[in-house]
Amino acid sequence: MADIRHFTDLHHLSKGDLRQIIDRSLDLKRTDPRGTRSKPLAGQTLALIFEKPSTRTRVSFEVGMRQLGGEVVMLTGAEIQLGRGETIADTARVLSRYVDAIMLRTSDEDRLREMAENATVPVINGLTDETHPCQLMADVMTFEELRGPIAGRVAAWSGDGNNVARSWIRAAAMFDFELRLACPDELAPPADLIHWAHREGARVSVGTDPDTTVRGADLVVTDTWVSMGDKDAASRHNLLRPYQVDERLMAQAKPDALFMHCLPAHRGEEVTDGVIDGLQSVVWDEAENRLHAQKGILLWCLGAL
Ligand code: CP
Ligand code: NVA
Repeated sequence: MADIRHFTDLHHLSKGDLRQIIDRSLDLKRTDPRGTRSKPLAGQTLALIFEKPSTRTRVSFEVGMRQLGGEVVMLTGAEIQLGRGETIADTARVLSRYVDAIMLRTSDEDRLREMAENATVPVINGLTDETHPCQLMADVMTFEELRGPIAGRVAAWSGDGNNVARSWIRAAAMFDFELRLACPDELAPPADLIHWAHREGARVSVGTDPDTTVRGADLVVTDTWVSMGDKDAASRHNLLRPYQVDERLMAQAKPDALFMHCLPAHRGEEVTDGVIDGLQSVVWDEAENRLHAQKGILLWCLGAL
């Protein structure tokens, strides 16, 4: 099964494949943004399984697959037998007989792994508690669309060392940019992930001071203080309040720095209205680019890039 093109994490692909996906996504956006000119995935079907809520991932995969000429089957964990205890492995075996690719949004990374190990079609990671690689494809695409190559540039993260932050760490290694993170010690990304990044030669650093982290950055990024599934909302709010991206913090970055947030945002918590609605914010382009990036990912997975 080694040749199945799973999109389970950024570092499972080669740098060359990731580059091809970004370039194709940018090209599709420029030349055929609504997929009216070509239907490379005609006759193919994507199953989308959501065990957690979603707006952007759900709509962008569905619309993107249709724009490429394919069909989708939208499933929530609760309404299929998965929710009554059928195993991920058996679900993977069965769905592989019906569809050409499976996207899964779930909690535990092990469930994603089990899906990929047992499916005979490509499996796409639509977010887990640990990772969100599709988001990073749209984020890198957005930076490059607006500012040119991300390689050698500096991105700064202020907030929770969550699934999106962890995918930023993978991205720093795979796309060769510097990443500085400011996170409370209690919510820092895992040390083994940082060690991995350093072994890959990536410039990734983690500290606790947002000001020094953001100073001179080309891009400032944050995310919610309380991710789906987090139970400890009150203590997270306390720990993360100093990490809010407000106008004062944003002013520490380069004057032309961009602001990104994967959304959904909690205005007045991790980001102020002034920043998310401000001139440096590109969150709506970023959200739009989920659509174009999903199309690039689907084309790669299905051998049609
Ligand atoms: N950014 C993102 O993945 O959004 P959804 O949870 O709405 O899919
Ligand atoms: N960190 C957030 C991302 C949502 C897209 C969460 O997991 O809820």
